[in-house]
Amino acid sequence: MTDAIAVAQRQLAAVAIARQAGELMRRLFVDRAGIELSFKGPQDYLTQADAAVERLVRERLAEAFPEDQFYGEETGGSFGDSVWVVDPIDGTANFARGIPHFCVSIAYARNRVPTIGAIYNPMTDEMFEARRGHGAHFNGKRMKASTVSDLKLSQVELGWSSRRSAADYGRMLRQVLDAGASFRRGGSGALGVAYVADGRSDGYAELHINSWDCLAGIVMVTEAGGWVNDFLAGDGMSKGNPVLATAPGLRDAMIRATGIGADVVA
Ligand code: IPD
Ligand code: CA
Repeated sequence: MTDAIAVAQRQLAAVAIARQAGELMRRLFVDRAGIELSFKGPQDYLTQADAAVERLVRERLAEAFPEDQFYGEETGGSFGDSVWVVDPIDGTANFARGIPHFCVSIAYARNRVPTIGAIYNPMTDEMFEARRGHGAHFNGKRMKASTVSDLKLSQVELGWSSRRSAADYGRMLRQVLDAGASFRRGGSGALGVAYVADGRSDGYAELHINSWDCLAGIVMVTEAGGWVNDFLAGDGMSKGNPVLATAPGLRDAMIRATGIGADVVA
């Protein structure tokens, strides 16, 4: 089998499994009154649903591609040259509080290159998917990053977690607002990055994000003509990094406003 066919097969599987995971997640969300809620740390929600959905994705991928490695947010795993990187429920706090803005995010990296992404929001039945070199699609329709090139006309999302200080977040927020952008925080980094690919947002920035939150979306933004910083630099895959994904015309302005990816501009 050629490499291209092997990758194409994995894309089909990723989309099918994301849909199955989404169906389970949707049922668990509707019945969430009976679900146990806990915290991994300050502001870091965990529900029984996260574990159940990760189990489903891990088992389906292992059946289909036993030779691949797997790394999931909840159960860990190992990274290698043919690895699946999975967030079973991204936007867990939204899930726990009854807000229907969350998704499953399945990424595949070959030789450390983000190659496939499938992100599914079961509450809106929205499937975002991409394969390196083959475009990015939303519910079957080609995605394109926005053409906005003036921050004063832009809407960007600034992801937040307690992994970075309030002072650092405040500084980035202040600079982005001073530059004239409008901002929001939706609570799902995976959907936030996918929205840049689909032109719904003009940028997504977060001072620290993990690979399971953003790798799938990164494939989409690149394939949709947007720009993303070198997220996998250093130990990005296992330890996370800052992320900046933007519409092409806002690259330099967003780098200046957020300070993320500053190595690429003179
Ligand atoms: C979090 C969300 C949030 C992002 C954080 C993530 P979780 O993941 O994606 O929007 O800002 O960096 O940790 O806890 O919902 O899986
Ligand atoms: Ca997550």
